[in-house]
Amino acid sequence: MIDKNIALIGFMGCGKSTVGKLLAQEQGWNFFDSDELVVRKAGCSIPEIFQRWGEKSFRKYEREVLVEVSAWKSIVLATGGGLPTGEVNWEILHHGFYTVYLKVDFDVLYERIRGDATRPLLKKYGSKEKLRELHTQRLYWYEKAHVIIDATYFSQMEIVKDIIQRAGLSGSGGE
Ligand code: S3P
Repeated sequence: MIDKNIALIGFMGCGKSTVGKLLAQEQGWNFFDSDELVVRKAGCSIPEIFQRWGEKSFRKYEREVLVEVSAWKSIVLATGGGLPTGEVNWEILHHGFYTVYLKVDFDVLYERIRGDATRPLLKKYGSKEKLRELHTQRLYWYEKAHVIIDATYFSQMEIVKDIIQRAGLSGSGGE
């Protein structure tokens, strides 16, 4: 049985928020989304942060949020797709959380996220192939997770059950 918070990691569109909310409900834990916490801190949307101050500034907010939530207890955190990348963030994340990588085939991810105006990286990378390269680079970090869950062809509830079983959690509000 794990004694840590849980962080869901993975590329954009892999289902971190939806699965995270369900998992938190099952555990009777609180759910947080790093993107939402960043938006709250910055006082504007993610596309606005990127547009006004650039990606660097977004990453700064993201680091601050990560440090803050690391001190909280009994939470499920859905992370932005770029949050686990880089030594500093990875150390904080992996030390404070049981990390769960929701692994979804890139082509499936791309179909889910293409044309989404709320994700500025789609515009930045410009083409499917460039985005595929980013995805490939990030696998280095994602695959370091405590557990890797195959999330391409399973329902959200099946994924939650898989996480509960693999992490040795009790489910149903901890009863
Ligand atoms: C990003 C993913 C987004 C958000 C931001 C940057 C990334 O979150 O944090 O647009 O670097 O992959 P989701 O993974 O929830 O889409």
